[in-house]
Amino acid sequence: MMSVSKNLEDRVLTLTLARPEKRNALTRAMYQTLADALKGAASDAGVRAVVITGTGDCFCSGNDIGDFIAAGEAGPGPALEFLHAIAAFPKPLLAAVRGPAVGIGTTLLLHCDLVYAGEGARFQLPFVNLGLVPEGGSSLLLPAMVGHARAAELLMLGEPFDAGTARELGLINGVLADDAVEARVQDQARKLAAKPPAALAQAKAMLKSQAGKPVAQVLDEEVAAFRERLTSPEAHEALMAFQQKRAPDFSAFE
Ligand code: COA
Repeated sequence: MMSVSKNLEDRVLTLTLARPEKRNALTRAMYQTLADALKGAASDAGVRAVVITGTGDCFCSGNDIGDFIAAGEAGPGPALEFLHAIAAFPKPLLAAVRGPAVGIGTTLLLHCDLVYAGEGARFQLPFVNLGLVPEGGSSLLLPAMVGHARAAELLMLGEPFDAGTARELGLINGVLADDAVEARVQDQARKLAAKPPAALAQAKAMLKSQAGKPVAQVLDEEVAAFRERLTSPEAHEALMAFQQKRAPDFSAFE
């Protein structure tokens, strides 16, 4: 049974959660497939961006509840490996959300760079309701993204919220008609896949590491990185292209 399908096109790797009969609940095997795919993509120059999406009318109903019940014996294993892989993933990571995104279906989005959702999307972090606690880095990332009050509302009350609310909170980039989400995400992924890859990876690493640092320190670090980038082959190609009035071509870079 293939519960995660992979498709590589135009240097965009699309990972589709494909277990619709269980609303794309994630099993240990699916976590392992996702972790392996992300780790492979991280070091594969043929992949410039990754998209995570779900089949049909559900993004992901969270961890498989049956696996949760068995987890006492089996341990977190592949789920934790997946979380480390997604948190450390160095290239652009996008998600297309249609329908429910529950539990890790929502917390995995906190590790993505661009997320677009359909009008029918419903997000929920029901950990406390299930007698559990926040996972996936959400106890750190969510308050950092939306502030304590709103994070407490989402993580302690654990009620579903819609795409408009997710957009207002800054958890996602945009809300579209359900049948327009996939195309928008693929479009954005292709734009990112055409950009200078090393500059993009460095920009992402900078965005992810700045929280909590004093501004003065960040200014100095940015200038140092910027000066280094100015002498890079990517910048050379971009600056020459501008002077020569042509489009830059970053397809040969890694
Ligand atoms: N793990 C295992 N099976 C799940 C599942 C999960 N997380 N979520 C849904 N399913 C299964 C249901 O048991 C049902 O299986 P069945 O047809 O064999 O009875 C099937 O998927 C369809 O689920 P259903 O609840 O009928 O679909 P829905 O469209 O009405 O609702 C959800 C979808 C996602 C809103 C709802 O299924 C749900 O809330 N699931 C639990 C989510 C959850 O608490 N996850 C853990 C987070 S930490």
